[in-house]
Amino acid sequence: MPFCVGVTGGIGSGKSRAASMFGELGAGIVDTDAISHEITGVGGSAMPAIIEAFGDSVVAADGSLDRAVMRRLVFANPQARKQLESILHPRIREHARHQVAQSAAPYVLLVVPLLLETGGYRDLIQRVLVIDCDESLQIIRARQRSQITEEAVRAIMAAQLPRQQRLAGADDIIRNDGDMAHLRHQVTVLHQRYLTMAAGAASKEQG
Ligand SMILES: Nc1ncnc2c1ncn2[C@@H]1O[C@H](COP(=O)(O)OP(=O)(O)OP(=O)(O)O)[C@@H](O)[C@H]1O
Ligand SMILES: [Mg+2]
Repeated sequence: MPFCVGVTGGIGSGKSRAASMFGELGAGIVDTDAISHEITGVGGSAMPAIIEAFGDSVVAADGSLDRAVMRRLVFANPQARKQLESILHPRIREHARHQVAQSAAPYVLLVVPLLLETGGYRDLIQRVLVIDCDESLQIIRARQRSQITEEAVRAIMAAQLPRQQRLAGADDIIRNDGDMAHLRHQVTVLHQRYLTMAAGAASKEQG
């Protein structure tokens, strides 16, 4: 398996942006949000199980998951949320493991928004990178990225780890409280470190 860094951070902290910068430098990127969308999209591999569990009302006309309907359903019903997660999580994990294993990049970043909350993926990752920024910036950026109220962002933040606890789980931290150039600089420095670590891990494996 390639050297793998788990990337996490609160909503709007800059995980996706940072990951794409690492990707431009040559890191492999495996994004669990993207996998989740793929398996619940048109012809997605999770759709038969979802339809069996929740019926046709959660399916859009094209056969993909109707996210708005599903969101309302799980918001009102913790049991339904559990059931949805029990369908999605093992499938996302299996796809992620496969994509990490197949990567030809010198190392892989595995982006998992709730990495520290769920404690998952430990067997796949060697390090945890936390993307961190001020909570007020998180709200501004999350709202900039998608049409969402401040109240809704705060509700999501409340369901995620408090900032200090997340930072306590980090091996590496990117402080994304400046401009894009500031973010890019930190990504470039860490990329070099990860290349060195990955090369060290690979030679240990061989020798
Ligand atoms: N340093 C920065 N300066 C200005 N804007 C930024 C910076 N970092 C990220 N952004 C912007 O903030 C928004 C949120 O960033 P991004 O989508 O990467 O966060 P995320 O952690 O992936 O969020 P989510 O948890 O919702 O997936 C995006 O519009 C992104 O372009
Ligand atoms: Mg993202």
